[in-house]
Amino acid sequence: MRFHSRPFLAVYASLAMTLICQLCPTAKAQSAELAATPPMGWNSWNHFAEKVTDADVRAAADAMVSSGMRDAGYIYVNVDDSWEAQRDAQGNIHSNSKFPDMKALGDYVHSKGLKFGIYSSPGPKTCGGYEGSYRHEQQDANTYASWGVDFLKYDLCSYMDIMKLHDPSQDPHQAQVMMQEAYSKMHEALVNTHRPIVYSLCQYGVDSVWEWGPQVGGNMWRTTDDIRDNYGSMALIGFSQAGLEKFAGPGHWNDPDMLEIGNGGMTADQYRTQMSLWAILSAPLLAGNDLSKIDDTTKNILINKEVIAVDQDKRGIQGSRIGPPQIWMKPLSDGSKAVALFNFVTDDEAEPLTLKFKDVGFSGPVHVRDLWAHKDLGVLYDSYTVTVPQGGVVMLRIWQ
Ligand code: GAL
Repeated sequence: MRFHSRPFLAVYASLAMTLICQLCPTAKAQSAELAATPPMGWNSWNHFAEKVTDADVRAAADAMVSSGMRDAGYIYVNVDDSWEAQRDAQGNIHSNSKFPDMKALGDYVHSKGLKFGIYSSPGPKTCGGYEGSYRHEQQDANTYASWGVDFLKYDLCSYMDIMKLHDPSQDPHQAQVMMQEAYSKMHEALVNTHRPIVYSLCQYGVDSVWEWGPQVGGNMWRTTDDIRDNYGSMALIGFSQAGLEKFAGPGHWNDPDMLEIGNGGMTADQYRTQMSLWAILSAPLLAGNDLSKIDDTTKNILINKEVIAVDQDKRGIQGSRIGPPQIWMKPLSDGSKAVALFNFVTDDEAEPLTLKFKDVGFSGPVHVRDLWAHKDLGVLYDSYTVTVPQGGVVMLRIWQ
């Protein structure tokens, strides 16, 4: 089941872009070291949606270790929507029959050297219609902490109905204020648990969340509506991140949604595009496939350590589009630059694309390494022309 009231948010998306959060003076980011680099891990939603079970999550944790993903940096194992049951007489949230014992599941995940994530909503109901945290924020945060939760995705969902109760024509800022207040409230509840919990805001980017996300304690915030496992959706979301660079940095990241790599709706070239673009964007890398059935092609894409190193670079600069048609560049902490040449054209053709080194700030000879071929291309002068498959990418690291 999905929540269908999002068009309502369009009203708010057009409201003031620069509202400063006045509601959350104590809601400082839970600390930059929690998400010093973009969080990496796995989330149940893209593949399992509401069918996910305790056994699936344990299998994902097992596979994160056996596949080498954990050692490549994928740490969080996140249960998305549909784990929730009702509250008891004391108001404590319980998990449903698919998840018999959340504490035991958290312990299992931790025993593998991984961290445990969960999902809720500031509204009375989640997007799947399960129990949300409305008016139970501190109680839920305490429960999560007692289960060993290390990551919370907090999804606006039915809180939109609460916001709707306030007529925007009477006070256009009211809904924005309420939304920020709701996110701030859960952040304070998480801080009160004294457990470090990465806080992931999910409200589809409305009201320019990147402008106030850090002030309500967000370590990352979704910038768009949901990704789908097809090239059009992925490319639209990924390439539309241009312009948001200045809002990302250590402790607080733009989140263009989770990875679809390995889910079957795109070609390997197109999945390499998602991995490369997300790395250039310093985006969180949350795999969304069935890790227990991961194949070698998927593994080689998700565990390309040279591409992961671009994503996880400690300077935390989000890369930007530098020129036609889709050439993107991210400066790295050692002075080198990651450059991705995307073949974004929609016909079936492989295209020769040319990078002029001066366009990414180099004059004179440069060293170039191809991060998907894992190959040094030697010292090059002026420019590099390479044929890029349709929907695919060539990703380079360049230094002098
Ligand atoms: C959506 C969210 C998805 C997923 C889903 C669960 O709102 O964007 O990523 O969490 O809810 O119901």
